[in-house]
Amino acid sequence: MSRSKVVLSAAIFGMAALASAAGVAAEPKGFPAILHPENNKPTPEKIALGKQLFFDGRLSADNKVSCATCHDPEKGFSNGEQFATGVEGQKGGRNSPTVINSAFHTFQFWDGRAKTLEEQALGPIGNPIEMNMKLEDVVAKLNKIEGYKKEFQKVFGTDVTSEGMAKAIAAYERTILSGDAPYDRFKAGDKTALSEAAQRGMKLFFGKANCVACHSGHNFTDNAFHNIGIAGDDHGRHVISKTLGDKGSFKTPTLREIARTGPYMHDGSMKTLEEVVEHYNKGGNAHEQLDEEIYALKLTKEQMADIVTFMKEGLACDSYPDHKAPELPK
Ligand code: HEC
Ligand code: HEC
Repeated sequence: MSRSKVVLSAAIFGMAALASAAGVAAEPKGFPAILHPENNKPTPEKIALGKQLFFDGRLSADNKVSCATCHDPEKGFSNGEQFATGVEGQKGGRNSPTVINSAFHTFQFWDGRAKTLEEQALGPIGNPIEMNMKLEDVVAKLNKIEGYKKEFQKVFGTDVTSEGMAKAIAAYERTILSGDAPYDRFKAGDKTALSEAAQRGMKLFFGKANCVACHSGHNFTDNAFHNIGIAGDDHGRHVISKTLGDKGSFKTPTLREIARTGPYMHDGSMKTLEEVVEHYNKGGNAHEQLDEEIYALKLTKEQMADIVTFMKEGLACDSYPDHKAPELPK
């Protein structure tokens, strides 16, 4: 069997076993297989190491800010605030997106400036308002922790390296998954899975309200960028692509577990799902690059409430990845 086939079959057959060996949730039923990079095959030890790194404040300058500070399992792997708060209480200008189902993203970040989770993982550590550590300093710091040195030797056959950190964190993130929600069960034929209001909301979502134009597929995102009329100075995707049409465009976020991840939007400007649906109903705010799929929807109050019910009830899965902070190496 070729190397790529091995990786692919691990993705198809092995995730549940791997994940349960690492004490984390398995790949949701009915989802496409996760494609692991050829050079980063998951193993239970690697996933467990990535989980420790994800929850470890020692990756930051003040030893207090971990990935989980801004991507907190108790807050839908987001942080419940309008903006992220990094070391010494510094605030950035964007809302922490959830990392749930980030394994399926074609792009990472609101503006898509990273492609893979491996590429993304080291960004926050060096970011002065997030974790504010030079990578070489984090590596040196972790190499002084016997437990990490041993684990890196076991997983990668080296001392702590930044490449190994990125790989382990990414392997762990690929286990933070949500699916098999009432919506999926309804779709699979269980007509009792959704309440009547949620069913009405679902019809609108996929019909008159046009949400599916962008929130499509199993992860409720088209993995593309759109301007939905949230005025602001942040030009989003345009800064990366330099394309005029991308001005004010941001990545379509997943809607899985959406009831847990507020406040909403790249600028955290909407506190509730009701506010979000009202925004779409009025056709967004005027903008020269407003997406053509954003227009006044003319929904009634009841219809708007039904869409909210669909999102809250239909997209929250029973097997929410309720991860707890692991014991950290000493
Ligand atoms: C201080 C808060 C903070 C910390 C700490 C932090 N993040 Fe984030 N994270 C954010 C914000 C804010 C964004 C969005 C930034 C943007 O789009 O420009 C983000 C984006 C992401 C994304 C992209 C998700 C998506 O939907 O595109 C991933 C994955 C991620 N972070 C993982 C991590 C990992 C791994 C760590 C630890 C090494 C980490 N984050 C530490 C705030 C934080
Ligand atoms: C033209 C594409 C498009 C359409 C149509 C669309 N959305 Fe969105 N949606 C997006 C984008 C892009 C964002 C992020 C925008 C930003 O942060 O500036 C978003 C954000 C959201 C968020 C916030 C998610 C978060 O994690 O912050 C929710 C909830 C949402 N949309 C629900 C809906 C619903 C409900 C509808 C239908 C009434 C809908 N969307 C229609 C593209 C779209």
